[in-house]
Amino acid sequence: MAKLWGGRFTKSTNKLVDEYTASISYDQELAKEDIEGSLAHVQMLGECGVVTEEEAKTIQQGLRTILKKVEDGEAHFSTDMEDIHMNIEKMLIDEIGPVGGKLHTGRSRNDQIATDMHLYMRKKTNVLIDLLEDVQYALLEQAKANVDTILPGYTHLQRAQPISFAHHLLAYFWMFERDKGRLLDSIKRINVLPLGAGALAGTTFPINRRRVAELLDFDDVYPNSMDAVSDRDFVVEALADCSLIMVHLSRLSEEMVLWSSQEFQFIELDDAFCTGSSIMPQKKNPDVSELLRGKTGRVFGHLVGLLTVLKGLPLAYNKDMQEDKEGIFDTVKTLEGALQLLAPILETMTVKKDRMRHAVEKDYSNATDIADYLAKKGLPFREAHEVTGKMVLYAIENKKYLLDLDLEEYKQFNSLFEEDIFEALKPENVMRARESEGGTAPHQIEKQLKLAETKLHQNHEN
Ligand code: ARG
Repeated sequence: MAKLWGGRFTKSTNKLVDEYTASISYDQELAKEDIEGSLAHVQMLGECGVVTEEEAKTIQQGLRTILKKVEDGEAHFSTDMEDIHMNIEKMLIDEIGPVGGKLHTGRSRNDQIATDMHLYMRKKTNVLIDLLEDVQYALLEQAKANVDTILPGYTHLQRAQPISFAHHLLAYFWMFERDKGRLLDSIKRINVLPLGAGALAGTTFPINRRRVAELLDFDDVYPNSMDAVSDRDFVVEALADCSLIMVHLSRLSEEMVLWSSQEFQFIELDDAFCTGSSIMPQKKNPDVSELLRGKTGRVFGHLVGLLTVLKGLPLAYNKDMQEDKEGIFDTVKTLEGALQLLAPILETMTVKKDRMRHAVEKDYSNATDIADYLAKKGLPFREAHEVTGKMVLYAIENKKYLLDLDLEEYKQFNSLFEEDIFEALKPENVMRARESEGGTAPHQIEKQLKLAETKLHQNHEN
């Protein structure tokens, strides 16, 4: 098949070169964005008199016919036409004749692909924001149902202090809130139009970039044509934002793997979201959570991959930049898959309140509260800490928990202890006592829940 750029060549391209340089196998993902950009471009060309209004209309009709074929899965893409731009231009010429060849006036594939990527990133960033919100809703619902559910909070994966399960879940709510904030902020930089930059230096045609920006709903145009065609910062930024989302997803997934283990038994995942073992009939594996955790690797890889592609590239466009696509496409798919599953997994999991409660009773996670008790009675905290440490040691040696010791034993360590120490050390009181702003006391959690709800509503109004 004749190349759209064949004029300068006397030989046909080596087959392997065709295959090696073609991007159509994956950039067909951008078919709709490519047509959307072309529709706006030719509209502007018609308005500016670069092509006649009639030619513009004919081209737009042709593009819409192709769009319909793309949507119906009837478009046939070919490696001979290398990439999405030339495939669609070829289809257009086949559809409406030589006038289709006027579409590419005043633009280059360099500003075209940059525009496609901007349109793609904007669409997908909004999808990811919505999916993050679904997860936030699921976390919020579980949190509301578990304000009074007590479990050990951990540091170093050692039992530290009793906390509310709602508090633990809400920690993830706020991570995803920051993730959403980053994505929302990135839209400012995505919403800038490269088209009109031409190959690198601008164009000799009397185009109107602002008009194209308006038609495509961009807030601004790139002020420098060389930057416009060689910038992929917004893709790197999306990969970085997605990497951080994966960090958060992976941490939550790890906790779900731990919690659903025989050792913890804090939650049970719904059968619909677990898988079995081909050999061990008793098993119910948290495969989805594990994969969620595991897929973090490929997303980090794509981030480092693109950073490496871009590093040291001279201005302006270089073919290397075609390597921006598969990584971000895979990243978006990976995140869509993960977030779509996480919301229902959270919604359907069973919280084993009794097991959590039992864990808190059989540990020393109320020790800080003994030290706090003494400190409130005037003993310097450092001394109170020392006394309590000795008591923990004594209790362990006597195979007891702190609530099993009697007042006499308490008084042997310090005369400041009174009967009320036993009330203070009960898990719910230990939890309730953490009344400081952002603490795990139920009263503080209620405030947090309200704030979380307000945030979700605010985002919806924007
Ligand atoms: N397929 C190319 C890409 O994805 C489109 C731009 C190609 N431009 C060029 N002059 N070869 O980057």
